[in-house]
Amino acid sequence: MRTLIFRVFVATAAAGWLLLGGTSASAQPAPATGCETCHRNEQAPGLAAPARDFTLSDVHRDRGFTCVDCHGGNGATTDKAAAKAPATGFRGKPSGQQVLAVCSRCHSDAALMRKYAPRQRVDQEAEYATSVHGQQLAKGDTKVATCVSCHGAHGVRLVADAQSPVYPLNVAATCTTCHANAGYMQGYTLNGGPLPIDQGASYAKSVHHAALVDRSDMSAPTCNDCHGNHGAAPPGVGAITNVCGTCHTMFATKFALSTHSLIFERGCVECHSNHDIVQPTDAMLGTDQNALCSTCHGDGDNGFKAATAMHAGIEGLRGAIAEAQSRVVSVENEGFEMGDQLLKLREAANHLTLSRTEMHAFDPATVQTILDEGMGLTASVDQAAESAEQELSFRKTGLAISLAAILLVVVALQLKIRSLHPPA
Ligand code: HEC
Ligand code: HEC
Ligand code: HEC
Ligand code: HEC
Ligand code: HEC
Ligand code: HEC
Ligand code: HEC
Ligand code: HEC
Ligand code: HEC
Repeated sequence: MRTLIFRVFVATAAAGWLLLGGTSASAQPAPATGCETCHRNEQAPGLAAPARDFTLSDVHRDRGFTCVDCHGGNGATTDKAAAKAPATGFRGKPSGQQVLAVCSRCHSDAALMRKYAPRQRVDQEAEYATSVHGQQLAKGDTKVATCVSCHGAHGVRLVADAQSPVYPLNVAATCTTCHANAGYMQGYTLNGGPLPIDQGASYAKSVHHAALVDRSDMSAPTCNDCHGNHGAAPPGVGAITNVCGTCHTMFATKFALSTHSLIFERGCVECHSNHDIVQPTDAMLGTDQNALCSTCHGDGDNGFKAATAMHAGIEGLRGAIAEAQSRVVSVENEGFEMGDQLLKLREAANHLTLSRTEMHAFDPATVQTILDEGMGLTASVDQAAESAEQELSFRKTGLAISLAAILLVVVALQLKIRSLHPPA
């Protein structure tokens, strides 16, 4: 009902608007300007491409803007000199800081942007200024990313458009045009060494890339989900846990209870890395040579003891579930109804998952509580499987006895028949 009233209202308002001869803010694409007409026919690609890309598909063109809104000049003429006369405010090709000014004239203007996209943020310029890109640009380094490095200048698309360079599946490629380019990034340093250029290659090996790209799980992160859209910076001390915690909430909550959270400067990344996060396994937890914990903990210390205990507990439950599962399946194959028991096993497997989350508080006692509940469930499944097995063996014995009895009767009958009709 409310939508209906709303629609009627919108329709009436729109009709009134048209009658009054008004134009809505999201206007029709503007007709081609003199700039566009001339530039499209220029020979040099650098002169023609902007006009062609702008005509092909551009959010600004769709909203009624023209070349003049960014470059200044007079769009009403095809005479070059007149189009670019000083009095027209023609600015030419903006570069570096000028790009920020061109884009932010509108994108930092809340009143203007509200007319087109009321919910759109107007903090891109402010956020950008806090990023390493923004800080270095302010110091005069024009090799860092500006608005056009990530969005383009002509043929700018909505960020939700699958062809946009900042659409989730395209972001890594956009960032790595610079960040994987050894020549381009040469000379930049981090903590005394060269700034690494392996982020794209490492990310391509991660669980996140597998989820996003291979399984189309759009909730998995790409570069900007961890670095921010415009505040691109390595998350600082303490902030890394928050970055991972925006999605892995329970892990961050548990981790915050641990001693590790007080001493690890890089939080989760200390154990999982940042770009090439691999699928964790139970083998990471423990004290063998390959286990993660043994890289820092040794014989006898509390971390060593905790790792040993939690590893044993988790392995124990995992083994118990596997064993109960195979018992249940084999009696089920004999025709027993075991649906309830399979449900219980799934519940036990949930406890196993919960224990791996709880493990992040690095307190063996709380992990054990969860594991005990899981063990309780598998024990009751074991019991049910055992009584099914017993019934099965009882039935089999019963069957064997009745078969033997039948056989006896048959033999007896045959003997009797022979005695009544002895062969001639
Ligand atoms: C009659 C053809 C013609 C018209 C009309 C025209 N241009 Fe150009 N434009 C050119 C040519 C040719 C160049 C190459 C530089 C030169 O010869 O001045 C150029 C260069 C440019 C450049 C690059 C300048 C630089 O600093 O590197 C921009 C930006 C530009 N034009 C924008 C515009 C805009 C905006 C308009 C409309 C207001 C416009 N042009 C109208 C032909 C034209
Ligand atoms: C949304 C703002 C915007 C609009 C609209 C726009 N431009 Fe540009 N244009 C830029 C910016 C920013 C640059 C600098 C891009 C860069 O450094 O890569 C640029 C660069 C150029 C260049 C120089 C290209 C080169 O490679 O040297 C030309 C020519 C140009 N624009 C022409 C046009 C024409 C013609 C139109 C209209 C059809 C137009 N622009 C519309 C922002 C805009
Ligand atoms: C380092 C790359 C990068 C730079 C530099 C950059 N952007 Fe973005 N921008 C992005 C990404 C990534 C998104 C978000 C895409 C998404 O939401 O999935 C985005 C989103 C946007 C949006 C949509 C609204 C929003 O904030 O989410 C606008 C508008 C925008 N950028 C304008 C700008 C302007 C203006 C500048 C220059 C001041 C700029 N961008 C600089 C990468 C960049
Ligand atoms: C004349 C004002 C104006 C200028 C200048 C301008 N923009 Fe825009 N921009 C808009 C408006 C209005 C929209 C449409 C917002 C909408 O409807 O979602 C938009 C949309 C966008 C979007 C898509 C946002 C989304 O919702 O997905 C991006 C990205 C963007 N602009 C980047 C830029 C960049 C980069 C520059 C500088 C090269 C720039 N803009 C210059 C007004 C402007
Ligand atoms: C036009 C090239 C270019 C693009 C595109 C680009 N960057 Fe950068 N970025 C740089 C350069 C150059 C630096 C080095 C600045 C410095 O260290 O002085 C940098 C620095 C950074 C840093 C800081 C590294 C440090 O010094 O700690 C991060 C984080 C970053 N970029 C992330 C991104 C992300 C994420 C994207 C994509 C959304 C992106 N960049 C796109 C050129 C680019
Ligand atoms: C899951 C979150 C996450 C994703 C996805 C991610 N990063 Fe990072 N990135 C981080 C963290 C955390 C750090 C800081 C690590 C540290 O302090 O040791 C970092 C550091 C960086 C740095 C600084 C240099 C370095 O390697 O330490 C750059 C540059 C960078 N990332 C770029 C990128 C690019 C480009 C992408 C996409 C291909 C990307 N990141 C994807 C979390 C992420
Ligand atoms: C934007 C949300 C988001 C951010 C930020 C994020 N992750 Fe993830 N992460 C996911 C998603 C989605 C998956 C895939 C889950 C799946 O496989 O079902 C995942 C998977 C994982 C896995 C494998 C878990 C499993 O059960 O398969 C680990 C480990 C992981 N992330 C650690 C991290 C760390 C460490 C950070 C911070 C550096 C981080 N994540 C940042 C969303 C995120
Ligand atoms: C001291 C090392 C360490 C730290 C710090 C750490 N983890 Fe883990 N994480 C592990 C180990 C070990 C496993 C594997 C546990 C297992 O499978 O038995 C794991 C497993 C995971 C999993 C997969 C769980 C599953 O069900 O398979 C995710 C997701 C995860 N961690 C996220 C995080 C996040 C987010 C943070 C930071 C808040 C974090 N971890 C901090 C060691 C760590
Ligand atoms: C990067 C090094 C590092 C890794 C990897 C690491 N720890 Fe620790 N851990 C420490 C440090 C340092 C302390 C604090 C000093 C101490 O008590 O040994 C600590 C403390 C602990 C404590 C608290 C000890 C106490 O006395 O309160 C436990 C429990 C613990 N770690 C378990 C683990 C487990 C389990 C793993 C493997 C999943 C692990 N740690 C991996 C460095 C690490």
